[in-house]
Amino acid sequence: MTALSRRDFLRTGAGAAALAAGSGLKLRAATAPGSPPGPRVVASGNGLKATAKAMDVLRAGGAPLDAVIAGVNIVEDDPDDMSVGYGGLPNEDGVVELDASVMDGPTHSAGAVAALRNIRNPSKVARLVMERTPHVLLVGEGALKFAKAQGFEEEDLLTEKSREAWMLWKEKKSGAPEAEGREVPTTHGTINCIAVDAAGRLAGVTTTSGLSWKLAGRVGDSPVIGAGLYVDNDIGAAGSTGLGEANLLTCASFRIVEAMGRGAGPEQACLEALEAVAAKVRLIPRLRDADGRPNFGLEFYALSKKGEFGAAGFFEGGRYAVHDGVENRHRDAAYLFKRRPGRRRAGGEPRPG
Ligand code: GLY
Repeated sequence: MTALSRRDFLRTGAGAAALAAGSGLKLRAATAPGSPPGPRVVASGNGLKATAKAMDVLRAGGAPLDAVIAGVNIVEDDPDDMSVGYGGLPNEDGVVELDASVMDGPTHSAGAVAALRNIRNPSKVARLVMERTPHVLLVGEGALKFAKAQGFEEEDLLTEKSREAWMLWKEKKSGAPEAEGREVPTTHGTINCIAVDAAGRLAGVTTTSGLSWKLAGRVGDSPVIGAGLYVDNDIGAAGSTGLGEANLLTCASFRIVEAMGRGAGPEQACLEALEAVAAKVRLIPRLRDADGRPNFGLEFYALSKKGEFGAAGFFEGGRYAVHDGVENRHRDAAYLFKRRPGRRRAGGEPRPG
C-alpha cells in the first residue's frame, strides 16, 4: 500500500478499524459530542497546571500566545520537572541547554531559541525573537547574548537533584561500583501547549531541556518550526514531545496541521504522522527494535480551529492534558502499538510529555 493510499485508508472508518484490530491502534472521538467551540487548551501530560493557567488567561481576555506561554512558564520554573527549564537534566558536561519555540496563528509568526544556557524561561526569549528581531531561530551564544540584552538574568539551572542525577550518570558510564543498582533518570520529555480562543485564534509553544546527557550543542525538534510545533490559523495547531531526532526526520507538526487541513480529525492526523515516522524508523537500525518497531517514545498533540483535539503516541498508556472550557483533566492518548511487557525504550523509560 503506498503512503498516500495508506493515509486515505486510515481516514476511513473501515481502515481505522482494520488497523486498530491489527496493530493495537486505538481511536476515540476528538471532542465530547455537542461540546462548544473554543476556548480549548491542550498540552502534554506534564502540562495540567499549564492548561489551567492558559485557560485562566484566555478567560481574562488574554491572547492565545500569552496564555500558552504563561502556562508553560509554570513547568519551566518547576525544579521537579526534569525535562523542561530550571532543574532540567543537563547535557554530558553537566550544563542545562534549553530549546523552545512559539508560534502565533493570527500573525503567522514564530520565534525560537536552541541550546540556550542559563535562562530558565526559553519560551519567553523565543517570543522576543519573534517580536523584536527579523529572525525565527537564535542558537547558543547568540541566543544568550540576545536574552541578556532583553533583560533576562543568567542563573545556574542545575538543581541539586539534577546535579546528583548527572553525577550518577557519569558514575554509571565509568562503571563505578557505587552506581550499581541505582537507576539513572533519563528524559527526552518536553512540554507542548497549544490553544484556541473563542474567536478561533490559535497559538502554541514547545519548550524543553531536550535529551538528557546529550552532546553539548545537540538541538532537538522543539525549537524547529514544523517539527516540534506548527500553527496555521486557518486550520489548527500541533506539537510534539519525545525523541526529537525521529521527529526532525519527518517534521510531524507541519504534517499534522496539513492533514487536518485536508479533513483529518486531530487524533487521526497524529496517528497518521506516527505511522509515517514508524515507516521511516524501519530504515534506521539505532531507532528500531528487533521487530522493526520504534524503540523510543514520541507523542503528538493537535487542536483544530474548531476546538477539536486529540493526541497520540507510539505506545499504549500515554496521557495528555486538556482544558475543554468546562473541565481540566488528563485524557488517554491514542496509540499505535501495545507496549510489550519487559521491553524498554531506547535510553530508558521516558516520561510521557
Ligand atoms: N522533543 C524534545 C527533544 O528531543 O529535545
